[in-house]
Amino acid sequence: MDLSYILNELGEERENYFNAIAPPIIQTSNFSFRNVAEFRTALADEYEAILYSRGNNPTVDILRKKLAALDGAEDALVFGSGIASIAVPLLALLKQGDHVVSVAKPYSWTVKLFERLLPKFGITTTFVDGTKTENFENALQANTKLIYLESPNTFTYELQDLPAVAALAKSKGILTMIDNSYCSPINQQPYVMGIDLVAQSATKFIGGHSDVVAGVVTGSKAIIKKIFDAEFLNIGGNISPMNAWLLIRGLRTLPIRIQRVCESTRKVVDHLAAHPRIERVIFPFHPSFPQYELAKKQMKDAGGLFSMVLKANTLEEVEKFCNSLKHFFLAVSWGGHESLVIPSAVSIKPHEFDATNSTHRLIRIYVGLEDADYLISDLKQALEV
Ligand SMILES: Cc1ncc(COP(=O)(O)O)c(C=O)c1O
Repeated sequence: MDLSYILNELGEERENYFNAIAPPIIQTSNFSFRNVAEFRTALADEYEAILYSRGNNPTVDILRKKLAALDGAEDALVFGSGIASIAVPLLALLKQGDHVVSVAKPYSWTVKLFERLLPKFGITTTFVDGTKTENFENALQANTKLIYLESPNTFTYELQDLPAVAALAKSKGILTMIDNSYCSPINQQPYVMGIDLVAQSATKFIGGHSDVVAGVVTGSKAIIKKIFDAEFLNIGGNISPMNAWLLIRGLRTLPIRIQRVCESTRKVVDHLAAHPRIERVIFPFHPSFPQYELAKKQMKDAGGLFSMVLKANTLEEVEKFCNSLKHFFLAVSWGGHESLVIPSAVSIKPHEFDATNSTHRLIRIYVGLEDADYLISDLKQALEV
């Protein structure tokens, strides 16, 4: 399906709302029926009905159609956060006694899901280095139900070979799920490569303006219906119509924002890679990246987030660099218009800082929509400080 068609037309039945160009925000909790027979039909299969906005809502439906098509998948569910789009499908697809093989170092709250929440229901997880596909195979148990991926992750960007892991899982009858937030569907389409479920924090690139928290999962109609019919309705992690509308608006400019961010990131990374105060840059599309060839093979482009290891002897030097930046906000998250920075040392106690540990000197940068030269000159002056 053509990208322009998906973003501008798919799911939008404008004749139903005065041919308005922008879709309406159907801000209602419930919907009425003409007679009892229609009411009964809706209650019998809420997945197919417009009954109550915890399930289906027309504004959210437009967004679902577009997000499913962007991934090349059959259907999508949209949630009130990215982590809900991971937690709810896992709760729907796993049961007591099941085992998961997860890539090491997924997003921090995903780790907590595997280590704290799922064990309450008797579900165990083995974490493996996902850079080698055989590590997944070696960790499989008789009760392994799902392989969980995040390629790349958002601090050190290790990749998994998606078609190879998908083929392994299919040969064993095991489900696969990925967090595709780093790439967005513009730069990577895991469903097309054989991954069953594709989750994404829509807070990041889909929203694109740092004003909505949301998540999406896409997959086959059968799996999405299974999630919808039970855990989606029961946990109630749905998005509001207003936020769905903001995400539809975000989608209109997704490809050009991603293109801009990727171009600027390349310029910023190239500059920093050659800077004497930088030990190394970590970015999947930089030739120094250990999995550069795999990145080129399965991703269309990369951008936004990258990390760098600062040459520093003390925590004060790391902090001084970050505090001296004038055009980067010190903040979590990413995917918006504004550039951001997080020193990994922010999550350790100051007395624990160890300059011989390069992780403590690692700084994650998000390159937003500002001019690349504007950002480069800011980084340069802060490195001089
Ligand atoms: C890679 C990744 N996955 C998932 C999430 C969770 O998304 P949300 O914050 O929208 O719940 C985040 C949030 O930062 C993330 O970075």
